[in-house]
Amino acid sequence: MNTQLTWRLAQPADVAAINALTARSIRALHSGSYSDAVIDEAVRHAYGVDWQLVRDGTYFVAEIDGALAGAGGWSYRQTIAGAHGPDSPAAPLLDPLRDAARVRAFYVDPAYVRRGVGRLLLQLSEGAARAAGFAEAELTSTLPAVPFYAAFGYRPVRTFEMPMPSGAMLHLELMTKPLAIAPQAPA
Ligand SMILES: CC(C)(COP(=O)(O)OP(=O)(O)OC[C@H]1O[C@@H](n2cnc3c(N)ncnc32)[C@H](O)[C@@H]1OP(=O)(O)O)[C@@H](O)C(=O)NCCC(=O)NCCS
Repeated sequence: MNTQLTWRLAQPADVAAINALTARSIRALHSGSYSDAVIDEAVRHAYGVDWQLVRDGTYFVAEIDGALAGAGGWSYRQTIAGAHGPDSPAAPLLDPLRDAARVRAFYVDPAYVRRGVGRLLLQLSEGAARAAGFAEAELTSTLPAVPFYAAFGYRPVRTFEMPMPSGAMLHLELMTKPLAIAPQAPA
C-alpha cells in the first residue's frame, strides 16, 4: 500500500485535533513508564499544544494520506516544556549565539508510530532552528521517548522534574544535541 507522508505548519484550527491526538498518544504509549495517576494528570495539565509555537510558525503537523498523524516543533523562546493556552504571555526570546533552541511537543498518533512521522518532524524542527542560527538543540523528553531522541544524536544531561498541580512530579529527561556542522580540519 502506498502512503503519502506530508507536512505543513500547524494552524489555530488544528489545535483541538492535536490536543486530542496528544491524549491518545500519551495514554497509549506511556503506560508502563508512568503511573495511571501521573498520566491522567499530565494529559490534563502538562501535555498538549503550546499556542505560542503556532503563532510563531514553529509548529508542524504531519499527515498520512491527509489524516493527522503527528505534531511537533521547535522554539526560539525560553519556554522549555508544557502546554500553554492562547492567553499565555509570550516567553522571552533565546539568543542563538548563546542559547540552545528548544525542541517542543512531539506527539505521534499511536496508529502511526514507527512510520517516520517523528523523524520528519524532528528534521523539520532541527533544520529550521539551524537556519535561525542555533548551534545546539535542547529538549525535555518523556521517558519512553528517550530512545527516539537518542537515535538522532541527543544525549541525556539530567533528570528534569515538572511539577503538576497535585504536587506530583512528572519525570522527564533533559537532552541536548549540537546542531552546527563542525568545520573540517585543514588538510
Ligand atoms: C517518540 C515519538 C514521537 C516517536 O515518533 P515515531 O513517529 O514513532 O518515530 P519514527 O517512526 O520517526 O522513528 C524514527 C527512529 O527513532 C527510533 N525510535 C522511535 N521510537 C522508538 C522507540 N519507542 N524505541 C526505540 N527507538 C525508537 C528508531 O530508531 C526509529 O527508526 P526505525 O523505526 O527505523 O527503527 C512517538 O513514539 C510518540 O508520540 N510518543 C508518545 C508521546 C511522547 O512521549 N512524545 C515525546 C514528547 S518529549
